[in-house]
Amino acid sequence: MWMFLIIWTVVVLFSIKLFNKLSTGKCYADTVMSGKVVVVTGASGGIGFETALELARRGAKLIIACRNNEKGEKAVRRIIRRTNNKRVRFIHLDLTSLESVRKFVAALEESEAKLDVLINNAGAICTTREKTEDGILKDLQINYYGPFLLTVLLIPMLKKAAPSRVVVVSSSWHKFGTVENINSEKYGYIQSYANSKLYNVIFSKELARRLYGTGVDVNSLNPGQVNTSLYRSSTFLEKIRSLMLYSFFKTPEEGAQTSVYLAVSYECDQMTGKYFEDCQEARASYKAEDEVAAAKLWEVSQELVKLTPDEIKRCLG
Ligand SMILES: NC(=O)c1ccc[n+]([C@@H]2O[C@H](COP(=O)([O-])OP(=O)(O)OC[C@H]3O[C@@H](n4cnc5c(N)ncnc54)[C@H](OP(=O)(O)O)[C@@H]3O)[C@@H](O)[C@H]2O)c1
Repeated sequence: MWMFLIIWTVVVLFSIKLFNKLSTGKCYADTVMSGKVVVVTGASGGIGFETALELARRGAKLIIACRNNEKGEKAVRRIIRRTNNKRVRFIHLDLTSLESVRKFVAALEESEAKLDVLINNAGAICTTREKTEDGILKDLQINYYGPFLLTVLLIPMLKKAAPSRVVVVSSSWHKFGTVENINSEKYGYIQSYANSKLYNVIFSKELARRLYGTGVDVNSLNPGQVNTSLYRSSTFLEKIRSLMLYSFFKTPEEGAQTSVYLAVSYECDQMTGKYFEDCQEARASYKAEDEVAAAKLWEVSQELVKLTPDEIKRCLG
């Protein structure tokens, strides 16, 4: 009986692994990125690091935006060692601080004339309902409000590089998200994460509408279930993750494929406002198509991140 159960479990787990291997999308585009300026947030590890590594391999001038100086510098050294591309550097960015976002943008504007690709990859699951120095729930600010401000402030640089691209890393969890009671503290951390990932998709579609015709394309994606440290701070999810066993998730390199695809592929030229999985366009939740909710979310976001009239005119005018 026990033997049968063990064999059955092993067969099921290998079937899952085989399914993942066969269904994982791969970016086959051989686009060279020399001369392109690319920012990848949260590139100190996981999907972000692998995305940055691949873009450096293709010759991009790469800026790694991380909250931890030591990890950021280490990622730069590892990427340079592995790609021999010396145009890789680190600029500090802590998405839990709107001031840090503004400082990052100022530093980038000082050193670069344009921005070809922005990859909003950084993300976190926060088990506590803690607020940031800006009075915003921490997970919502890391996953959505910080990237919202960052992207809006970088629009002038993206327009200078047009055709240029914004890539927003969301999750299949966005399907469980809701736009009811935006910013409510009553949601548990799993619901809050799902909400933030829904905001990511709604935002990318709304931004695509607002930037239509400017040459700045905006798309979002789900990387799939990937073996990274994302679940480290979550006791419940950590247990589930352990149960699922590391090896049955995608590797970070596999998880980075759709981000790389959206950043480099010619197939995505002039494609905007779409949602992708495994390097293919996919159907996002019907909730992400609600333009009334999108307008409301935009209004709330603009107010929360305290966009000044001058910033609105300069970036969105
Ligand atoms: N892994 C999955 O199965 C999965 C599934 C769906 C979607 N995603 C999404 O994929 C993206 C990348 O996640 P991952 O799986 O690669 O997780 P990860 O390994 O934990 O990487 C997350 C990155 O975000 C950075 N970060 C966290 N808080 C930050 C802050 N306040 N300011 C700036 N950067 C911050 C982290 O920096 P530190 O190294 O300093 O912590 C790290 O570099 C996230 O948006 C996540 O929601 C992942």
